[in-house]
Amino acid sequence: MESKSWKDSFAELERIVLPTDTNPINDLYGGRLVEWIDNVASITAARHSRRRNVTGSIDSLFFLSPIHLGDIVHLTSRLNYVTRSTMEVEVDVYAEDSLTGDKKFTTTCFLTYVAITQDGKPTEVPSLALDDEDTIRRFNEGKKRSEARLINLQEAKKKVPKEI
Ligand SMILES: CC(C)(COP(=O)(O)OP(=O)(O)OC[C@H]1O[C@@H](n2cnc3c(N)ncnc32)[C@H](O)[C@@H]1OP(=O)(O)O)[C@@H](O)C(=O)NCCC(=O)NCCS
Repeated sequence: MESKSWKDSFAELERIVLPTDTNPINDLYGGRLVEWIDNVASITAARHSRRRNVTGSIDSLFFLSPIHLGDIVHLTSRLNYVTRSTMEVEVDVYAEDSLTGDKKFTTTCFLTYVAITQDGKPTEVPSLALDDEDTIRRFNEGKKRSEARLINLQEAKKKVPKEI
């Protein structure tokens, strides 16, 4: 299968924080931000694979500073690493004060998506073209995270009870 550049699947999303998005102290509710993160990252996975995808994991999700009611939220989504059927996507989030224009970096995380067939079986995706130094660095770092993630996945599977 032909390899594709990260540029082919880069995605962005912008939202303004409305009262329905906030927690009791008028900051953006974390769950709402996770929804937006999953949404923009799934666009990257869809553009790269052109397959149906499911979210496999979300990790290293850090809320570094609060986002306030009325802020403009800007999310960027970039493919870092690919294995046979799995894509690691990095999402970074900036908040912009809508009155002053001041911007701050607020949130970062990694998500993995698994491409599946109609009947839910994992299926192959294109490889990632390693055409510049930054892409190679991200790919190598993604490989290390992927190895750690697979160990964590095995641990999570051990937790599955035989009966619920
Ligand atoms: C993700 C899913 C399709 C994997 O199916 P599976 O039969 O367990 O897959 P396998 O063990 O054969 O692994 C297939 C690939 O997926 C990867 N993988 C499996 N589960 C994963 C997970 N939870 N997170 C990240 N990667 C995962 C494996 O590393 C493997 O990668 P590779 O093909 O690139 O080497 C399945 O576990 C699933 O459907 N999970 C629920 C997904 C979902 O509903 N998401 C939305 C949450 S609301």
